[in-house]
Amino acid sequence: MDDVKKSILTCNKCDLAKTRKNPVPGEGSVHARIMFVGEAPGAMEDATGRPFVGRAGKFLDELLSSIGLKREEVFITNIVKCRPPQNRDPTDAEIEACHVFLDDQISIIRPKIICTLGRFAMNYVLDKFNVPHGSITESHGRVFEVRNLFGKMIIIPMYHPAAALYNPQLKSVLEDDFKTLKSVL
Ligand code: URA
Repeated sequence: MDDVKKSILTCNKCDLAKTRKNPVPGEGSVHARIMFVGEAPGAMEDATGRPFVGRAGKFLDELLSSIGLKREEVFITNIVKCRPPQNRDPTDAEIEACHVFLDDQISIIRPKIICTLGRFAMNYVLDKFNVPHGSITESHGRVFEVRNLFGKMIIIPMYHPAAALYNPQLKSVLEDDFKTLKSVL
């Protein structure tokens, strides 16, 4: 994991390297049973080099503690490790340049469960494991079981916590999806 981190910190594979302050490799336990995969760092993450430390991150912390999980017990990362300017969506080219780091992190951690946050992470992770799926509206909160080289793994797509900050109705949807995660655990 240290090698992956070093490669991320020195990466220049796409133009985000020119505008980022700090790459954000991700953090948490390498022995985590659960991985959370978001989209890309925002302003606070870019400033600190840490994932989910802004407003969306505070809400993620609340969701974790609502089911008795601590941040240190899980691994939190993003598909794209550098901030897109003005928090725009990551491009296909940026995802293409960056996804190898997430792939390596998944292979090293071998999580039992991956929770994707938002549609970019959902599309990437479900497609990677060849899971047919619909939109995030249809697929959030569903429990997808896949087999990979190291056994069985569960993928639970969820809305992005930032979406609930803009649309408060999604707050209870995310809370319910975390209850699903708890029951799977
Ligand atoms: N949004 C994300 O998708 N990732 C972060 O790290 C912060 C906000």
